[in-house]
Amino acid sequence: MEYSLSFDGVVFRYPDTAEPALKELSFKVPKGSRTAVLGHNGSGKSTLFLQAVGVLRPQQGGITVSGRPLVYSRKELARLRRTAGLVFQDPEQQLILSTPQDDISFGLRGIGMDEREIRLRCSEVVELLRLEEFKDKPIHQLSLGQKKRTALAGVLAMEPELILLDEPTAYLDPMSEAQLLSGLENIHAAGTTVVIATHDMNLAYRWADWIIVLDRGSCLAEGTAGEIFGGHTALQEAGLGLPLLAELWYSLPEGLTAGYPAPRTAGDFKAALQQLLGSTGSGV
Ligand SMILES: Nc1ncnc2c1ncn2[C@@H]1O[C@H](COP(=O)(O)OP(=O)(O)OP(=O)(O)O)[C@@H](O)[C@H]1O
Ligand SMILES: [Mg+2]
Repeated sequence: MEYSLSFDGVVFRYPDTAEPALKELSFKVPKGSRTAVLGHNGSGKSTLFLQAVGVLRPQQGGITVSGRPLVYSRKELARLRRTAGLVFQDPEQQLILSTPQDDISFGLRGIGMDEREIRLRCSEVVELLRLEEFKDKPIHQLSLGQKKRTALAGVLAMEPELILLDEPTAYLDPMSEAQLLSGLENIHAAGTTVVIATHDMNLAYRWADWIIVLDRGSCLAEGTAGEIFGGHTALQEAGLGLPLLAELWYSLPEGLTAGYPAPRTAGDFKAALQQLLGSTGSGV
């Protein structure tokens, strides 16, 4: 299997702190996957993402992005900016210029793109993330959700092979969340590896195909969504509860569901019940 990102024994301690934020952290993100990094507050998700794009540097261990070990020279970091893009948890840390339009163009100018191509890429991401109505508004007047979408647009415009989103649905209302997920669907379908950090177990359950469970700076478990949500133990150990649909499914009599894959959406759940109860003659 090919991997877009791998950590091998990464240790990182912030200055003047007693405990390392990442402790011998090792995991792999399969190329082309939709990966969710799950972990409670302070488990190291944001630190992991900052390491993956070279903003923070491990004190021990190594990181590989798209098959290349990370090297912290100016040239290699510039190359990394085109390969891996991070949407920060806090959009205020990410947005630099006065309007979304200017901010998105700024990153592209930074990698030496010509103005015609910049205009084209900008209009593509503005359309994809539906930023038309506020693309020329001063950023300080935008809502947090609008800022978050603007930050995402700036990263997408760079067309990275690997995109990391730190709590992408925080501050988004249900409609914006649905729009974001459908935007991510298009990006994923075009071959991009997408990694999100989230506390939202329901989102991870319906969206991700690969799961990494973090606990106090270490990887407790990694595997397919079926393995992690079906096994429960790593999630329990990390204090992370089950998604509602999984909880419902696993509370059904085992004799009924045995051998049937756990449904990941409400629609699949209904279809599964209809089929299972239909086949026992009960009907729904
Ligand atoms: N700039 C910093 N200086 C010192 N310690 C930090 C800094 N940023 C994070 N930490 C510590 O590192 C650990 C991991 O924090 P991190 O922000 O990576 O967790 P997280 O999983 O992203 O949490 P959350 O779910 O709250 O976003 C925590 O113990 C945190 O207190
Ligand atoms: Mg965080």
